[in-house]
Amino acid sequence: MVSKGKIEWISGPAVKASGMAAGKMYEVVQVGEEKLIGEIIKLTGDIAFVQVYEPTSGLRPGEPVTGTGQPLSVSLGPGMTGTIYDGLQRPLEVIAKKAGSFITRGVTADQIPFDKKWEFVPALKKGDGVEGGTILGDVQETALIDHKILAPPNLPKSTVREAAKGGKYDVQENVVMAEDKSGKKHELKLFHRWPVRIARPNKERLDPELPLMTGQRVLDTFFPMAKGGTGAIPGGFGTGKTVTLHSVAKWADAKVVFHIGCGERGNEMTEVLTEFPELIDPQSGRPLMERTILIANVSNMPVAAREASIYTGVTMAEYYRDMGYDTVLVADSTSRWAEALREISGRLEEMPAEEGYPSYLASRLAEFYERAGRVAAQGTPERFGSVTLVGAVSPAGADFTEPVTSQTIRFVRTFWALDTRLAYSRHYPAINWMTSYSGYIESVSNWWSANVAKDWARTRADAYSILQREDALKEIVRLLGPEALPDEEKLILEVARMIQIGFLQQNAYDDTDAYCSPEKQVKMMKMFVAFHEEALKALKSGTTLARIRSMQVISKMLRSKFAIKNEEMDKMDALVKEMMDEFKTISGVQEVKVVE
Ligand SMILES: Nc1ncnc2c1ncn2[C@@H]1O[C@H](COP(=O)(O)OP(=O)(O)OP(=O)(O)O)[C@@H](O)[C@H]1O
Ligand SMILES: [Mg+2]
Repeated sequence: MVSKGKIEWISGPAVKASGMAAGKMYEVVQVGEEKLIGEIIKLTGDIAFVQVYEPTSGLRPGEPVTGTGQPLSVSLGPGMTGTIYDGLQRPLEVIAKKAGSFITRGVTADQIPFDKKWEFVPALKKGDGVEGGTILGDVQETALIDHKILAPPNLPKSTVREAAKGGKYDVQENVVMAEDKSGKKHELKLFHRWPVRIARPNKERLDPELPLMTGQRVLDTFFPMAKGGTGAIPGGFGTGKTVTLHSVAKWADAKVVFHIGCGERGNEMTEVLTEFPELIDPQSGRPLMERTILIANVSNMPVAAREASIYTGVTMAEYYRDMGYDTVLVADSTSRWAEALREISGRLEEMPAEEGYPSYLASRLAEFYERAGRVAAQGTPERFGSVTLVGAVSPAGADFTEPVTSQTIRFVRTFWALDTRLAYSRHYPAINWMTSYSGYIESVSNWWSANVAKDWARTRADAYSILQREDALKEIVRLLGPEALPDEEKLILEVARMIQIGFLQQNAYDDTDAYCSPEKQVKMMKMFVAFHEEALKALKSGTTLARIRSMQVISKMLRSKFAIKNEEMDKMDALVKEMMDEFKTISGVQEVKVVE
């Protein structure tokens, strides 16, 4: 039985309806004569509070509210990649065609193309076992995505009774008919639906121990992200949140990329919508959109759709994870999402907590970030996939103690803190290397030592300790000036500056520098650490600091990030040799006698 109630009052995107005793939490309802899409977000007795995903102007008390019996869900099947969606998985292009560039009310749009025929290559035959998550077959969704057709997660253990032959099918045609032990028949198609507020099940959660490589030195080397990990990028106005997220979206070694835009400024979203379709995938040379899904919350859309958008996005990411793919979802910015939550909560006259945000802000953030993870997928054959979640946070006045930033910190394991002062001095990415952290350093170090350099962890620690020592010395320098320091400590300042300019700073707009391979990152880091060691030896054997500072190789070292391409690692080796040779020259040692 579905509920049939009527509107009591309307306040912005929120509607109160009576006569809704048969309603369920998070059930989709049709609101008013125009059947606007809404969702029950609070139920007390027969009173339902509904957030409405379309403009509510013109609605009147007394109009009907009708339950659909269904939770807010997405359609999962081929045709999603390359699409720009709104927060309810309605393709913007389809809506625009139907309704012009403004979303008028009551517009429905197919979430995926329901009439397009796909070439389906079956994986199952009559008599095979099939259960939730089993791969039914393949569809080449785009040149970059081999879309695995999955049995819906809640399918009980069944046996295939009929299997379609390979050929062209649209997503609504049955490709498998299966029968479970109770004799119930299940018709399986190229797509299924899943409620956005419920995490898709998996066989097993795995430790996030593989790095998600982004090609950004300060991230990969110092504050690594793991596949299936969580991260936040908080930063004040204009500090580089969007540029950093775009670098992650563009370069991360993930198969499918999700970008959720909750821009406060309309033009910010327009930038994404015009820029992304033009980006070329560096891994394949094909348009990045062939493995990207965008969710755009443009400013003329009701706030409720923004609230739903992160769940819509993460559900789609979990679906591609279940195919056995690594996915990364970036949300820019979660502060705008939290504001939507605050506005709706305010309309419902809920008791506000800190700064007007509802008391459930923390649990909502936790629920979102908990959906990250690396998993063994349900069903057969065995496969592993991941969802990595990274959210930008835009605290007003760059005050990291405000509720959204401080609550987010509790639930993410990587914290990339953007620093207003660094951004002002044009140190990009403006990630503060003292306040940022990663909880994955130990878990990913095995991968680095097995795949790139055995001594990764030690070299990283050496390089980082130079930065830490510089930070500690800064206070003394501020009070007494650098002259008060002994040469060894002046050297620390010197090498730290070299690491900052030559390694931490990275230009997202430079063809060579935009992406730095893991190999190059390690070679560069080792070069700076070796420079420090050699300089220390030189100082001890009487070379002056002035002489070390004037070494010619230094400017070459600082330029190596854009002068040496990722494929030219022999040039990196040659540069290190040149550095060692110059050290020999300045310390007056022409030949080193080895005494055993
Ligand atoms: N890695 C980088 N390389 C080069 N320039 C950068 C980099 N990061 C940031 N910038 C510069 O900083 C500017 C602002 O960055 P961005 O738009 O990402 O900031 P934001 O934090 O998203 O701002 P807002 O608060 O307005 O959303 C960019 O336009 C660019 O000029
Ligand atoms: Mg931005």
